[in-house]
Amino acid sequence: MKFAVVLTAIAAVAAKASAASCFSQKLGYPCCNGNIVVYTDSDGKWGVENGQWCGMPNGQAATSCWANALNYPCCKTTTEVVLTDNDGKWGIENNEWCGINSSSSSGNNNNNNQQQQQPQEPTYSFGYALKNTPVPSSGCGKNLSLPKTGSFEFKWGNNKRTVRIDIPDNYDKSKPYRLVFGMHCMGGWAGGVQQEGYYGLKPLDTGKTTIFVAPEGNGQQLPWGEADYYMFDELLAKLKGDLCIDESRVFSTGFSYGSMFSNGLSWNHQKVLRGVAVYETAERNIWLPKHTGEPIGWMGVLGFDDGLCTPEMGRHARDIILEHNSENGAAVKERAEEATPGGPHKCYDYKTVDQRFPVRWCTQSGGHLWDHKDPGQYQSWVPQATWEFINKF
Ligand SMILES: *[C@@H]1O[C@H](CO)[C@@H](O)[C@H](O)[C@H]1NC(C)=O
Ligand SMILES: *[C@@H]1O[C@H](CO)[C@@H](O)[C@H](O)[C@H]1NC(C)=O
Repeated sequence: MKFAVVLTAIAAVAAKASAASCFSQKLGYPCCNGNIVVYTDSDGKWGVENGQWCGMPNGQAATSCWANALNYPCCKTTTEVVLTDNDGKWGIENNEWCGINSSSSSGNNNNNNQQQQQPQEPTYSFGYALKNTPVPSSGCGKNLSLPKTGSFEFKWGNNKRTVRIDIPDNYDKSKPYRLVFGMHCMGGWAGGVQQEGYYGLKPLDTGKTTIFVAPEGNGQQLPWGEADYYMFDELLAKLKGDLCIDESRVFSTGFSYGSMFSNGLSWNHQKVLRGVAVYETAERNIWLPKHTGEPIGWMGVLGFDDGLCTPEMGRHARDIILEHNSENGAAVKERAEEATPGGPHKCYDYKTVDQRFPVRWCTQSGGHLWDHKDPGQYQSWVPQATWEFINKF
């Protein structure tokens, strides 16, 4: 993303050199001097001058700002500073430079020369840019106090939970690591999740970038309840404080009741969870928090023949996410391609969601299990599909 921003910035700086600005310059046509519109398409309003197509200059911004003197519009909505130079703070709207008013708006901020060389990563009112630079936690720089592989007892309130953990053997306390939770199913246990490589993901971490954790549920038949949401918060705080975690890349996975818990976390933990991967999930039969309305990365795996977390429940869980990950919930109407019954799996990446909050939907014939396999295969495709998803961020 950083690289793309640099390219955009270079392209826009080049455009900045010419006097008037209009949409058609990017398409290789000059700007019109007059104002007679002969044709309008999705690019904008076109005129004809000197026997050649030309683009109408961009409309004057409703309000004025310092950038107008330089023939640039004022930023209408963005406040993200992409570049600071002697003129002032620049943003980008509709692929064009625009001026951002700041309290010291008249520019000449000579103390910002470094930013001029290095355009900043875009920031958003919620969430991160894809491929953002890591956000180190307070545990970075601390000596390791947790076992590299094994378990530890985690105390919270009057309670205690065993937490399974796997840290890369070459752990470097100055390097922020991705953190992936594996939540066990009803009748399962954290040790089982660890033995299965955290839903098969750990063997895929050949770059040793990830710390895996599986907390034990509450020991009751329904292993995850309301209190476990607070347990999760406190455990996450401990891990961030003890280990060097990339706070922007924390994920939760799970199967069945574990997926329903991860799915529940995706409703009210979007500030701390970048995404969840849920295998055979449902949006009911479990204590669920109120949805905050914020988007989150989400991947669902569904077996068409699952009679416990049925396709109807899984699709509904997915649609609740789509509603919040797209403008006005438009993605709910997007039809995901699904697998042909009896055939190989199909993973579909939604196109109409905000691409910073991707939604992946994987389907195949099969029942209530997490490690679905393609016909004739011994290895499940689910870990690989999940690893790809996690690596989008
Ligand atoms: C920018 O600041 C100037 C001077 O304070 C003000 O007149 C103008 O309305 C502001 N424009 C925007 C777009 O906020
Ligand atoms: C961290 O470990 C190093 C190397 O073993 C040791 O020298 C240092 O004292 C430790 N720091 C703390 C705060 O324990």
